[in-house]
This record gives sequence, C-alpha cells and structure tokens, in this order.
Amino acid sequence: MTNDTSGDVRLSGIAKTYGSFTAVHPLDLTVPQGSFFALLGASGCGKTTTLRMIAGLEEPSAGTVHLGDQDVTALPPYKRPVNTVFQSYALFPHLDIFENVAFGLRRRGIKSVKKQVGDMLDLVQLGEQARKKPHQLSGGQQQRVAVARALINHPKVLLLDEPLGALDLKLRRQMQLELKRIQTEVGITFVHVTHDQEEAMTMADTVAVMNAGRVEQLGSPTDLYENPRTTFVANFLGTSNFIEAEVDSKSGDDVVLKAGGGKLLLPGARCSAPTTTGGKVLVGVRPEKISLVPAEEAGEIPEGRNRITGRIADSSFIGVSTQYVVDSPVCPDFEVYAQNIDRDTRLVPGAEVVLHWNPAHTFGLDASQDIDAGTEEEAVV
Ligand SMILES: Nc1ncnc2c1ncn2[C@@H]1O[C@H](COP(=O)(O)OP(=O)(O)OP(=O)(O)O)[C@@H](O)[C@H]1O
Ligand SMILES: [Mg+2]
Repeated sequence: MTNDTSGDVRLSGIAKTYGSFTAVHPLDLTVPQGSFFALLGASGCGKTTTLRMIAGLEEPSAGTVHLGDQDVTALPPYKRPVNTVFQSYALFPHLDIFENVAFGLRRRGIKSVKKQVGDMLDLVQLGEQARKKPHQLSGGQQQRVAVARALINHPKVLLLDEPLGALDLKLRRQMQLELKRIQTEVGITFVHVTHDQEEAMTMADTVAVMNAGRVEQLGSPTDLYENPRTTFVANFLGTSNFIEAEVDSKSGDDVVLKAGGGKLLLPGARCSAPTTTGGKVLVGVRPEKISLVPAEEAGEIPEGRNRITGRIADSSFIGVSTQYVVDSPVCPDFEVYAQNIDRDTRLVPGAEVVLHWNPAHTFGLDASQDIDAGTEEEAVV
C-alpha cells in the first residue's frame, strides 16, 4: 500500500431522500485508496443509491463526495475518475471483445489502442477471445469483458453493482476470486455492492453492513462475524443463537449471567450491552463453536465451559457437517453445526443432549433488539 490518497472515497453526511422517504440516511464513510470495500445489505437498503451518488449518477439530498482531496459532489459522472460495472453489463453486441474493451479509448480519440487493450485482455485472461462477439462468450467471460472495459479508462475507483448477480453459483465463486485477483493486481479502490454475505466476506477487506439506509456496522469480515454489535449483523452474516439472560455478577474480566436456572460466562470485552446487575443481555454464540454430547456424558465436559441442556429436534446431514436444531429451555431452536469426524449415532432427534462451548466464543448484545432482525424469517414478514 502507498501513501497515495487520490483513490480515497470520502462520503460526508451524504443522504438521499425521495419525497418523504429516506433511501440513505446521512452517512459518513471513508474507503481508503487501494482497498476492496463491500456494501452489504438486503434488497432496498440503499446500496445502489449510495453507489450512484459516488458515481455522480444520483444527486445527493445532502452531504459531499470526495475522491482523494477533490470535492466531486457537483461534477457530472464523466468528469469523475470513477467507472461503474453493473449487473447487466450491456456489452455492445455488434462489436467484438477487442472493440468493446477499446471503446473508452477510441471515444477519447486515442488511436493506438492495441497494446493497452491487449494488456487489459490479458489481465482478465481473455487474450484468446479478442475476436469473438459477446454472445459467443460465457456469462463469466462477458462479465470480465465488462470489468476490462471499465478498467481501461484507468479510473481511481471502480464501482461494482452486483456484477455477479446474473451468474450461477459455481461461476460466481470463480469470479469472486478472479475479481479479487484483478483488484490486487491493479491496486485501485473497488467498491462492491452485494446482498450476498459470503461474497462480501470472501472478497472485501472491509465490509459495511447496511440496513434500511444506514450502515449498521463496518469492519473486516472476521471482525463482523466474531464481534457483531447488533442482532441484525449477527443474523445477516451467518447464523447466530441467542439466549436472553440476566446479569448476575462479575468474575474477573467475565460477566456471569443467569439463564434458565444455569449460569453462563461472557467476556466483558465482548459485550456491547450495559452489564449492571439485574439487567438483561442477549447472549450470542455461533453454531460451529458448540459441541454436542448425549446427556449421559455430561459429566465428561471439562470445567469452565458454558453449557445448556436440550433435546434434538432435528438433524440434517450435509456432508462436511451435520446441522442440529436443539430445543432448549433457554432457546427453542438452538443451531449446532458438528463437523463430520466421528459421528455419534446417539445424536438423533429426540435425544437428550448437553451443548457446551468455550465462554471466549460468546458475545453479548443489547437485549432491547429484535432477536430475528436480519434473518430470513424476518424478511418474509
Ligand atoms: N428514483 C426513486 N424514487 C423513489 N424511490 C426510490 C428511487 N430509487 C430508489 N428508491 C428507493 O430507495 C430505496 C433504496 O434503493 P436502492 O436501489 O438503493 O436499494 P438496493 O440496496 O440497491 O437494493 P437491491 O439489492 O434490491 O438492488 C428502495 O426502497 C427504493 O425503492
Ligand atoms: Mg441495488
């Protein structure tokens, strides 16, 4: 990384309203030069609107957009050092791949385009396909042409709006790695919009999780996954289990909580809720952090683990793991993912079990939130 900041994207108080509806609430955000940044959120949360304000395709209702030191808020799109790749990449059907990529150069009156277009096609690994027409390429190849066509203008920032949305899952996965490689190679700032949490986590250095026109949390993929600060983020990025618990006392750096007659430990540093005695906290733990044993083996669980009891309600074998749903007095549908190493044939629906996990893997959230925020159940309502 260099000290060059000309590819920084800085949004200050940027907002967009349509009549009385607020699509994007005042937003402050800095995307550092050379980073791969993802805007992640459900349909309608304001991702495209935010991206279009950076591109200059949408006029903000308030706030400013800076690219590097330059205030570009009043500049039209073509005067901004920014290019956009959309989901429908709309290549020119009558032009071959070479000419599609050369388009931006030709429009600027540049005559000798061969070397630049050739380099760009090599970058996206389509050197062999230069004389084909778009309809003779696969979806993923067409997508790479669209990226090459945008990059040939040497933008400081590339904006990508669900660029892989039209591809099937396997191709999407390939293209995610491919785009990441291209970004690393060209080293410019990428701002990538997606509603797919795996896609955001695989590709981006930093992810901003958006919800209803606001950024709920911003961080590295691991930070967001391990330390969500809201139930929305906890549920939107993977699956989380929640237990409503009451603060009992402190024990060193840990908070001791009461839930369903038992005690749970939570590292104080991982709790974003107040921890006054008697207060309520939502205790969260991810399904893959939990071990599951038949109730009769409860005595073998090491000291110091968090534990709850329950009965297996459902189990599904999905190859690399078995996913259990456990009905527990503290949570009716606790999810546990067990890696398939030695499968215990006693762990079947109806079995009484004990769940246990390392307290370090527990996080604590403010209990006034909706436990289902950001889940698919919520999205259906
Ligand atoms: N021109 C417009 N007039 C009125 N409302 C609009 C307009 N454009 C967008 N909206 C509204 O603003 C909100 C945010 O839209 P936006 O396109 O930014 O969502 P998004 O996060 O990109 O969603 P998706 O994942 O479905 O593409 C939506 O509720 C949308 O209906
Ligand atoms: Mg959109």
